[in-house]
Amino acid sequence: MSRIPLMAGNWKMNLDHLEATATVQRLHWALQDANFDFNAVEVAVLPPFTDLRSVQTLVDADKMSIVYGGQDVSINPAGAYTGEISARMLVKLGCKYVVVGHSERRQFHGETDKLIGGKAMAAVLSGITPIVCVGEALAIRKRGEHVAYTLAQIDAVFGEMAQDLAPRAVIAYEPIWAIGTGEVATPADAQEVCGAIRERLASLYGRQAAWQMRILYGGSVKASNVASIMAEADVDGGLVGGASLDPAEFAKICRFAEHIA
Ligand code: 13P
Repeated sequence: MSRIPLMAGNWKMNLDHLEATATVQRLHWALQDANFDFNAVEVAVLPPFTDLRSVQTLVDADKMSIVYGGQDVSINPAGAYTGEISARMLVKLGCKYVVVGHSERRQFHGETDKLIGGKAMAAVLSGITPIVCVGEALAIRKRGEHVAYTLAQIDAVFGEMAQDLAPRAVIAYEPIWAIGTGEVATPADAQEVCGAIRERLASLYGRQAAWQMRILYGGSVKASNVASIMAEADVDGGLVGGASLDPAEFAKICRFAEHIA
């Protein structure tokens, strides 16, 4: 059984709820016009929290096959945590996925691997699939320590999760130096780390579980470079930032199989 690729558009703090419905509608049309096979590639959008209700209403009304999720989740189930959003709230809005541990949350909100593992656990316990982000900064890559660094993040995050539930997670390898910079990792760079992550998952959860888990690449993914990255054995999809805000471009990214380089 092979892994179904996942193309997930992380909108970050872009697009209000009106722009969100227009964007999802255009994405759906673009894919429909191309006779896109939603069973062959899973397409997800990850809008800001304030857009989720509008996206849910549109997706449900038009019976779209596009799935969606949040960009963060609280480690706590409920209570006095001003500004936080619980996994249960995301479930109520029909979210399938939630990003945890994005490098921007690690950098600007001081999130630790321990917290991120707790958030991933809160998500799986509620039935949402966490997309766990890992990846090194430029200085670490220049020292040649990127594989060891990223695997240490995997160990620390997954160490917070129950052994039987952890394999439900999706992992996104996002080298920080490639995020929003236009500097994409080479396919070999992406494969080196994604392959090492899968090996580590195999030692943690067994070969079969590791074989079934999806590992995404993120960092300046565009229609023009997605096919060669997706051709790598251990890359099972993309976590797409800037390019996912343009529905025509994101639709082309989802159709990577038609333009294998
Ligand atoms: P860009 O695709 O804009 O480089 O962003 C990648 C990212 O951070 C997705 O989570």
